[in-house]
Amino acid sequence: MPMKNLFITKPLSVLFKEAEMTEGGLKRNLTRMNLIFIGVGAVIGAGIFVITGTAAALHAGPSLVLSFILSAIGCGLAGLCYAEFASMIPIAGSAYTYSYTTMGEFIAWIIGWDLILEYLFGAATVAVGWSGYVTSFLNGYNIHLPPSISQSPFVFDATGWHTTGAIINFPAVFIITVLTVLLVVGIRESAKINNIIVIVKVIVILLFIGFGIAYINTNNWVPFVPANTGEFGHFGWSGILTGAGVIFFAYIGFDAISTTAQEAKNPKKDMPVGILVSLLICTILYICVSLVLTGIVPYQKLNVSAPIALAIDTAGKGLYWLNPLIKIGAIAGLSSVVLVLLMGQSRIFYTMSHDGLLWPVFSRVHKKYRTPYITSIVTGFVAVIFAGIFPIGLLGELVSIGTLLAFAIVCIAVVVLRKKNPDAPRAFKTPFVPVVPILGALVCLIQMASLPRDTWIRLLVWMALGFIIYFTYGVKHSKIRKMKDKGMLE
Ligand code: ALA
Repeated sequence: MPMKNLFITKPLSVLFKEAEMTEGGLKRNLTRMNLIFIGVGAVIGAGIFVITGTAAALHAGPSLVLSFILSAIGCGLAGLCYAEFASMIPIAGSAYTYSYTTMGEFIAWIIGWDLILEYLFGAATVAVGWSGYVTSFLNGYNIHLPPSISQSPFVFDATGWHTTGAIINFPAVFIITVLTVLLVVGIRESAKINNIIVIVKVIVILLFIGFGIAYINTNNWVPFVPANTGEFGHFGWSGILTGAGVIFFAYIGFDAISTTAQEAKNPKKDMPVGILVSLLICTILYICVSLVLTGIVPYQKLNVSAPIALAIDTAGKGLYWLNPLIKIGAIAGLSSVVLVLLMGQSRIFYTMSHDGLLWPVFSRVHKKYRTPYITSIVTGFVAVIFAGIFPIGLLGELVSIGTLLAFAIVCIAVVVLRKKNPDAPRAFKTPFVPVVPILGALVCLIQMASLPRDTWIRLLVWMALGFIIYFTYGVKHSKIRKMKDKGMLE
């Protein structure tokens, strides 16, 4: 086994040459606006519509807004680092590609495998949230889906795994199947639909904030930081920290913009703008939503699957008209998140396969649609299985920890590449290097540390699976190793 050269890097020159050669592969038709919409589309979803309530009720109380701010700081710092790479290496693959050129193949594999976890499990998680909102929306019109086909067959709690009697979570399977077909047919169509959905969900959130403000009872904000229960992460300052780790899920997705770099019209300029603007928009919305939510409902009551709908009911008759709109907005919003995550996932697979680290079938591009259709179909198939069988809670934290790790590595990679390759052209430069990247990595690591041990164990199991694939397949088929062996690299 070629254990040496584990940290072989892919030279920037090779990356740029490949990008030119694949010009004919994927179509370049995403504008700056499309990128911002992809970012917002990926970010606002189950985090704000589902997880916010639990995070307030179990971890942070009204100080959830501080968790959101802390998490946003980590994302903002990591976003600045992502932006430098995205403007410098505008090639599909995101953090995976960045680390391949800076920290070598082994770290790139770790990050790529980690991103697969983020997008694949993230898509499945949000699809399960979508199923919950659709079921609840239909209930409002007296259409009752049988629980046997609208719930997860398995649940996981402190005592272990249990069956629920359900056969399959059909709505979750349905949404992933429909979106996979869209992705196979082509990104232009997908981007257009995504734009409409994003507008709907942002309007709905603005309505909640705008009309909800009048119903805030400031007594619900007192005490702003509820006293710690004696257990780490249950209120008090540690609760804010754990709250940040949990609601970090709500910010996941802006990095998906960088996975579409090969399909952007003007990636160097538009990537950084897309990443930073979409992150800013979402942060402002989240801060407002969390303040209105904890202002209307006492935080102890927020541990429900549709906290925003609960806030509207609590506000009273004056806001009832908003309830179906919120559910429609959530259903639309969650669909666009699943779409972007599925898209990001198939692009990561495509790039890793193109590098020889995964089987070549994953980088086959459809003759007519010019999309990486096989990876889209395989991604959809696996996501369908997870979404159809497993519960939302189990996967959410796993997605967060995997993504935080990816963010931390990206931050460190910026510093490494500035040292290794100081003169490479950078359309956007992360400010205050190395302070910004180091702080970014630190905030991500702190949030990782605040997540439960079970989540860490699942992360390690996933990584072990990745290492088996890498050492049995990737190292033997890596294109960059083959080039080096043939003396084609300096
Ligand atoms: N940020 C995305 C969400 O909240 C993953 O659903």
